[in-house]
Amino acid sequence: MSDPVTDADPFERFNRAQGQGTVRTPYPRYAAWRRESPVRRLMAEDLEPGMRMQGRVLFGGELPPVFIALSHEAVAEVLRDGERFSSKGYARTIGLVFGHTILEMDEPEHARYRGLLQQAFTKRALERWEPEVVVPVVHALIDRFAARGPADLVRELTFPFPVEVMARMIGLAKEDHGDFHRWAIELISLAIDPAAGFAASQKLRALFARVLAERRAEPRDDLVTVLAQAELDGERLDDEAIYSFLRLLAPAGAETTYRSSSNLFFGLLSHPDQLDAVRRDRSLVPQAIEEGLRWECPLPAIQRTSTCDTLVQGVAIPAGALVLVSMASANRDETRYERADEFDIFRPAKTHMAFAFGPHRCLGMHLARMESRVVLESVLDRLPNVRLDPEAKDPHITGAMFRSPLSLPILWD
Ligand code: HEM
Repeated sequence: MSDPVTDADPFERFNRAQGQGTVRTPYPRYAAWRRESPVRRLMAEDLEPGMRMQGRVLFGGELPPVFIALSHEAVAEVLRDGERFSSKGYARTIGLVFGHTILEMDEPEHARYRGLLQQAFTKRALERWEPEVVVPVVHALIDRFAARGPADLVRELTFPFPVEVMARMIGLAKEDHGDFHRWAIELISLAIDPAAGFAASQKLRALFARVLAERRAEPRDDLVTVLAQAELDGERLDDEAIYSFLRLLAPAGAETTYRSSSNLFFGLLSHPDQLDAVRRDRSLVPQAIEEGLRWECPLPAIQRTSTCDTLVQGVAIPAGALVLVSMASANRDETRYERADEFDIFRPAKTHMAFAFGPHRCLGMHLARMESRVVLESVLDRLPNVRLDPEAKDPHITGAMFRSPLSLPILWD
């Protein structure tokens, strides 16, 4: 039977398929597993519904042996070593719709492309994007509800702002922003609806092809122009590489930042003493952002494939295994962080794994941090005494393959 909500709304459908609204907390299970071993072989019944679905749809029903790296050390060991743990597996999953991107490349190809793509994410570009793109986008969204009263911070701010930022950074025309967001979600819903995933991939390609042709004819100050002109050792990106990278950017840049900023707000709003401390002393903002990312990372795990029979922290992994790398578990590793389950912006600074580690460490992490800072500071500036609505029904973070709150009802003075 059709479901009027989920059939009509790809965001809802995607959230549900990722275990959003059903998986409340994976952490006790990870902690129990971590106590037994830093790396664990997973059986079919251990897999989250989203992963089982991927197995059915994308691996023709059969998943290879699946392992999960759980401790901080195990996660670092896997991510550091692209030779033993390849990223090529993405070519069989999300790469089917993104195209060939750096996400699924191993060295030396990966470093070559990353060098080219990095040219779009310079410090200078960030300094320009902050006042020209991020600040106006965030304020325009807050303008819509600031004078009205209660709001849902997720629906009205943290969900729409990063995709709008991405659309403007790329240089899309205003009338294309809605399509861009919808197709981006359909793209990563590949395992739930392959036909829609492939169709979205083609539609995005056509959109980007149009913009690329326009920028070649008339360069502008946007991401497409930079990618069209990027050069490293005499090499340039071909058009397909540009389309694929732009396809990757929508979910990589928008989906994650929407969820990480929602998690940060949830952490602060549900710990009013820490929120007050940040309100009084804005120099605490950067450490609040890092603690939000450690405590609840939006993308709890990524994947690698073992290329040989090997050992990780003493645990044997055969060649060809699917290795889930749980940054969420590593970030709660009690041997690295005291009271690891607690949100505490005052804990001693230690790096976390939310942006991964090693050669594929997030290319957009400085942008993500800047966006989080702008959205947090703007809310504190514009909504005096912002707080969770006490009438809100049990706001909480949820999800298996992505994590964030579904809503954050707020009040202010
Ligand atoms: C809080 C927000 C973000 C989080 C938690 C996050 C997390 C991650 C993680 C875990 C990876 C590694 C994936 C893997 O190796 O399998 C990654 C890679 C990547 N991220 Fe992010 N990301 C965020 C924001 C962004 C933004 C804003 C952008 C761009 C505009 C971006 C672009 C990328 C790209 C292009 C890669 C691929 C890098 C490579 O393969 O070398 N991300 N991100």
